[in-house]
Amino acid sequence: MTSETMRGKITAPAIQAMKGGDKIIMVTAYDYPTARAVEAAGLESILVGDSLGMVVLGYESTIPVTMADMIHHTRAVMRGVETVHVVADLPFMSYQVSDAQAVENAGRLMKEGGADAVKLEGGRAMASRIEAIVRSGIPVMAHIGLTPQASAALGGFKVQGRSLDAARGVIDDALAVEAAGAYAVVVEAVPRQLARIITSRLTIPTIGIGAGADCDGQVLVNGDLLGSFDRFTPRFAKQYANLAATMRDAFAAFAAEVRSGQFPTRDHGFAMSRDVIAALESDATIS
Ligand code: KIV
Repeated sequence: MTSETMRGKITAPAIQAMKGGDKIIMVTAYDYPTARAVEAAGLESILVGDSLGMVVLGYESTIPVTMADMIHHTRAVMRGVETVHVVADLPFMSYQVSDAQAVENAGRLMKEGGADAVKLEGGRAMASRIEAIVRSGIPVMAHIGLTPQASAALGGFKVQGRSLDAARGVIDDALAVEAAGAYAVVVEAVPRQLARIITSRLTIPTIGIGAGADCDGQVLVNGDLLGSFDRFTPRFAKQYANLAATMRDAFAAFAAEVRSGQFPTRDHGFAMSRDVIAALESDATIS
């Protein structure tokens, strides 16, 4: 048994129980090697976010992401984890239509994707969706503040809750998702003072992204954290590596060595016995 398996699977109730205690650390992941690295690093949770659309699939927004995309990538992540709690995003228009649609697609992320929980965006307007999914036995992480799937309606990727009315709206969203049965809530791009007030008013953990240090946890998109997504870096993200540069340099070094004859060497290949070579060469001579 490895030290990882000794930690035991981190469940939604275990995440909920971390409220006010140790920080919940979450990062997005969309594939097997990244999931293994997150497991080895000892983080609590992975979000298979629909940010997949932008940082891996190259779309301009998260809108084109499909249920098939989310299931495919969630399955890859699940194969790479043992203990990490994996939350899969419900993509745009997979839950907005009706409670029944939301339950059906949340069920697919669990059943076909193997996720431990699902996440959806929206506050008061999505309370009935959260209630319906939770009633069907599926843990729901909510997501309030800046909700990227609604960026067209919000006028872009903008900080939310700065005015008194807007701040009260975000607080009402937080209280609504808690009352609906969410076990945790992502709070994105709101002033840190508002996130602190929300964190103190809720009994479920807040997981912040661009929401200050007082949340119960923090989440970052791995393309931003690792520097593998080089189109832009949000102001609230911190880059801990520069994988885009590392990859570019490695590919360029490979190309240069092949062109110069430095790669492959004998060490990177296979040999055969002299007898076989001699026989092959005499075959060639006879014909
Ligand atoms: O899809 C995603 O990566 C997210 C994070 C921004 C929280 O929802």
